[in-house]
Amino acid sequence: QVDIGNVLSATPGVSRDGLERLDDDVAVAHERIETGRADAEHGYASLNLPETVDTDAIRQAVSRFDDPEAIVTVGIGGSALGSATIDAVVGGDAETYYLDNVDPEATTSLLESLPLSETVVNVVSRSGTTAETLANFLVVREAMADAGVDWADRTLVTTGESGNLRELADQHDLPALDVPDGVPGRFSALSTVGLAVPALQGADLDAIVAGARAEADRLSGSLFESPAYAYGATSYALTQRGASVNAFVPYTESLEYFAEWFAQLWAESLGKDGLGQTPARALGATDQHSQLQLYRAGPHDKQVTLLRPRERDDHGIPETDLEGLSYLGGSSLGDLLDAEFEATEASLAAAGVPNVRIEVDRVDAQGIGELLYAMEAACVLYGELANVSTFTQPAVEWGKKAARGLLGGGDFAEADAVADKTRLV
Ligand code: PA5
Repeated sequence: QVDIGNVLSATPGVSRDGLERLDDDVAVAHERIETGRADAEHGYASLNLPETVDTDAIRQAVSRFDDPEAIVTVGIGGSALGSATIDAVVGGDAETYYLDNVDPEATTSLLESLPLSETVVNVVSRSGTTAETLANFLVVREAMADAGVDWADRTLVTTGESGNLRELADQHDLPALDVPDGVPGRFSALSTVGLAVPALQGADLDAIVAGARAEADRLSGSLFESPAYAYGATSYALTQRGASVNAFVPYTESLEYFAEWFAQLWAESLGKDGLGQTPARALGATDQHSQLQLYRAGPHDKQVTLLRPRERDDHGIPETDLEGLSYLGGSSLGDLLDAEFEATEASLAAAGVPNVRIEVDRVDAQGIGELLYAMEAACVLYGELANVSTFTQPAVEWGKKAARGLLGGGDFAEADAVADKTRLV
């Protein structure tokens, strides 16, 4: 459920009339999205994943790996964050690690601590050419070989039709899942890319997909009928009116990765042509003791998104005979967190800061499927309203080419631009 009541009288804010006028554009955008989905066009095909993803094939591909102690996902950006987001919610017996960055110290220390012979290496790259991912994989592979572990026997690959990673998989006959056509990295959480780790963990993939499907069924031509579109359209309207920052604040630690995933989705999809809304990540209630000061009393250039589950496993607070603390005794940590949530929401509303409440019944397999799909649909709608090319990432590609060129991995003009850069001391 998405509650946009607190944007109506905020600054910047959107009036009910303004939202009703915008709803005409939402209807047009919805038509465009539906056409894109029907034709499985690049990007729009992501919104079909609840129907097209083959969970049996994913389970089948991971079945050869018996109860690993650890799973290391080697991938970056959209090839890692969706998987990390889902795993943080559904979990399992294996310890999971994400080797996305190429920080030598962090990589060395991870490799020293891993039980390599009991580890599954999950290498993910849509393009199959991303330098960070391929470099990390070569390093992990060598560490396994040095430790006498048959790395080929413990590696799962998820990649596109071509590229270096596909070649490696073919060469060594590694089990490989395909990244579906038309699904950009940051929209791939509900595909092979995001579901392989939950499958290795024995999680209920079908419940995740069912949650996503339930959200897909709620898309309609009106922002007043679809929570996902309510969020996308309201965020777009607020951005237009000056909310250039979107502070995304889950009130549960299991959604910290989700906030990170959201930041990627929002920034990489909508940051185009001088437009976009800068995502800021925070965590309730922790960041009430730091960032909230700025959100409430700083410049009115923000939208705050507050996200919480309606139900959670709770933990009681013990009674105490200290009179000053008697208000806590008999209540629970969940009650306190909810009180913090509502206090923050009211405090922002009282200061006229636009804030949107998102609630999900429970943060479980179904709930994370709902949230992932809803935010993807919200993002696609925002992109249509802003008329940007949601599914491309030219600035990201620029950096990738420049880095490869600098290392001698090809003749890229982008690398020349780095070399030509005037260095000021
Ligand atoms: O969303 C995106 O397109 C990016 O974040 C990619 O997922 C990221 O750059 C990794 O790309 P690849 O999967 O090709 O290795």
